Amino acid sequence: MSRRLKLPNVGTTIFTTMSRLATEKGAVNLGQGFPDFEPPAELLERVAHHLRARHNQYAPMAGVPALLEQIGSKLARFHGITVEPQAEVTVTAGGTEALFCAIQAVTHPGDEVVLLEPCFDSYAPAVELAGGRSVRVPLTPPGFCIDFDRLAAALTPRSRLLVVNTPHNPSGSLVTSEDWQRLSVLLERTDTLLLSDEVYEHLVYDGRRHASALAIPALRARAFVVFSFGKVFNATGWKVGYCVAPPELSEAFRRVHQFVTFSVSTPVQHGIADYLGLHPEFFAELAAFYQARRDRFVELLQGSGFTARPSEGTYFQLADYSALSEAPDVDFCLELIETHGVAAIPVSHFCEQPPDCRLLRFCFAKSDHTLELAAARLRP
Ligand SMILES: Cc1ncc(COP(=O)(O)O)c(C=O)c1O
Repeated sequence: MSRRLKLPNVGTTIFTTMSRLATEKGAVNLGQGFPDFEPPAELLERVAHHLRARHNQYAPMAGVPALLEQIGSKLARFHGITVEPQAEVTVTAGGTEALFCAIQAVTHPGDEVVLLEPCFDSYAPAVELAGGRSVRVPLTPPGFCIDFDRLAAALTPRSRLLVVNTPHNPSGSLVTSEDWQRLSVLLERTDTLLLSDEVYEHLVYDGRRHASALAIPALRARAFVVFSFGKVFNATGWKVGYCVAPPELSEAFRRVHQFVTFSVSTPVQHGIADYLGLHPEFFAELAAFYQARRDRFVELLQGSGFTARPSEGTYFQLADYSALSEAPDVDFCLELIETHGVAAIPVSHFCEQPPDCRLLRFCFAKSDHTLELAAARLRP
């Protein structure tokens, strides 16, 4: 009997596999992207307060009004844009749910969705579940910038959606304001919508600033833009994110969201809303904190045989191991866990057509102690 089950080619994600192996082998886990640090104490206190204050039943489908308002203020503060939070912001179970709902909301069977690869591993399965077809356009190493000629060639009348991620996982590269302008021109005469994954918006280094698709009106009019509180509050396990889209697109988004999760943890939403009201400056301090972690990690890698171009954003650092081995990156990663006791993620995992390079992704959102331990194990 043919069971015709969905996603036949999808196994357990590499993040789960590497984290499991890291635990089994007692390896330092710089693979999966989660921080070693706790959320701010006052945020924990606010969430605990709302648990006790009996805010424990379903939240409104689009989000707790106080949180929607705070997100509106945050968008005005950081991106200089005015939104109507009730109509244009939807709180989701992390960035992952937002990405999924946006893709389901607009992709019909046979539609093409253009992905810039390497890319986060949830995009393509979501496209497949919608009956769409992923069209991959490579980002070119070592800078992993957008190749506009290749992108233009990939866009056809069947292109329903273009997915962009900035700051970019795994490379840490950034889409600049000029890139967005060029994308805007490219999409101008098309019906292609934009899904912009900006979950690492506050982790941008060396004095650069995050450029959001929301800043360009022509793009904003056709975009779902996805953010995550998990990434910025050291609370990846809470799974709270949000999607910003014009009213018509938000309505379509919510038609899916209401049947995926319906709504998101009520006490956590209230707690985050309180904290955002009390500490609007919180995000401004994040980049310096993570930049220091990146600098420490890059410094610690010296003498290990790995070479690294400092990441421009995210909490990931790519490292080139071609001086150490000619093995494919998956094999080298497994070897690294076995022989050095350090877990990383192979870049080929983010690609259908892996680029011709030998790169591993390390997560540096870890304490000095963890980074030093990893580096000591990596050095010969
Ligand atoms: C590029 C990118 N998008 C989305 C997500 C998912 O975010 P969340 O943990 O809020 O679901 C991640 C998480 O690693 C990510 O790296």
